[in-house]
Amino acid sequence: MSEIEKKWQKFLAQEESERAKYFMSNRTRIDGRVVLPDSIIFPRQFNRELLEYLFRLADAVRDLENVSDGARFLKSIDPLANKRVLHFFGQPSTRTLLSHQSASMVLGLPNSSLIGSETSSQAKGESRLDTMATLAEYADIIIIRDKEKDFVEKVAWYLKAYGNRPCPVINAGSYSDHHPTQAQLDYYTMHRWFKNRGGVEGKTILFVGDCRGRAVRSNAYLARNYPGVKLIFASPCDMKIGSDIQDYLARHDVSFEVTEDFGGAISEADVIYLTRVQNEYFEKVTDESKKYFHPDFALTPELMREVNVDTIIMHPLPRRGELPPELDNDPRVKIWSQTRNGMWMRVVNFLILFGVDQEMVRKSPEYFR
Ligand code: NCD
Repeated sequence: MSEIEKKWQKFLAQEESERAKYFMSNRTRIDGRVVLPDSIIFPRQFNRELLEYLFRLADAVRDLENVSDGARFLKSIDPLANKRVLHFFGQPSTRTLLSHQSASMVLGLPNSSLIGSETSSQAKGESRLDTMATLAEYADIIIIRDKEKDFVEKVAWYLKAYGNRPCPVINAGSYSDHHPTQAQLDYYTMHRWFKNRGGVEGKTILFVGDCRGRAVRSNAYLARNYPGVKLIFASPCDMKIGSDIQDYLARHDVSFEVTEDFGGAISEADVIYLTRVQNEYFEKVTDESKKYFHPDFALTPELMREVNVDTIIMHPLPRRGELPPELDNDPRVKIWSQTRNGMWMRVVNFLILFGVDQEMVRKSPEYFR
């Protein structure tokens, strides 16, 4: 084992809460109450103060982008003039890739993409870390999605400890473990919807379907930031939320329930968060399994009649049969605004990682009072 590999194994042997601290910067905002990350790796890097700050930034960005003067401002933030972003996606993606690309366009940041290891020099036997070190020579932020457990974290750790130049990393989905920016955009969507309805505090979020996936897991990590939130995980018995998440929730006093009865939980829910079966991690992927969904964990038009008027329906997408498109016109279905919110949150992530968020505060101070 190489020296670097030994050091990485030693780092990885620590608790995740310790490792998360390594990816926080020494940049603070709002009288030291907000600490910015220097790479985005874990959902647990986001506490309430940081989330609130990011949501304000996102509101400011979306309103600026809507008017041509504002859109021009966003494309001309001076310290970004020589910055570039690069995507390395080793797993399929539509929204996460395109929303990051679109977010970089909002800021006038040129971006390039390397999709699939088979087109990189890894196919010629290059080590994965060498590929990443190469990317860091061409880019100022790397956005990575990967199926190998802990790989995104390893790259961020490696570049911070050994990199030739600073290059933050954004985790765009690692294995079935973490998808921190998905959780950010999901909470941003809830934050906006519940803004005039008492906030996210005290609401009940019902996760439905496959609770083993990184989107549900990452959402669960953020729940501790909202006092009184209750989580219900409704899934078939072989797709239950992991015991590590259950332990985490118990340790942080988040109330939760694990059930196989989706229908029985509907009337209690303020948010119904549907999911697709994550068969690529847990089962043999066949053409049939690509279409597979669990009919008992789908929102049918009949069940939709039992959903409260102020309850929203969310889904990280892609969907299969669990949320039929004919329900999309129902105003409670928020999947498309959730999708667009992904772009705003990712603009904000670029702003904080490049340390230019204060330019936004100066430009739109009314959002930060
Ligand atoms: C999710 C993912 O990739 O984990 N999709 C996404 O990023 N919007 C959810 C999924 O694939 O089911």
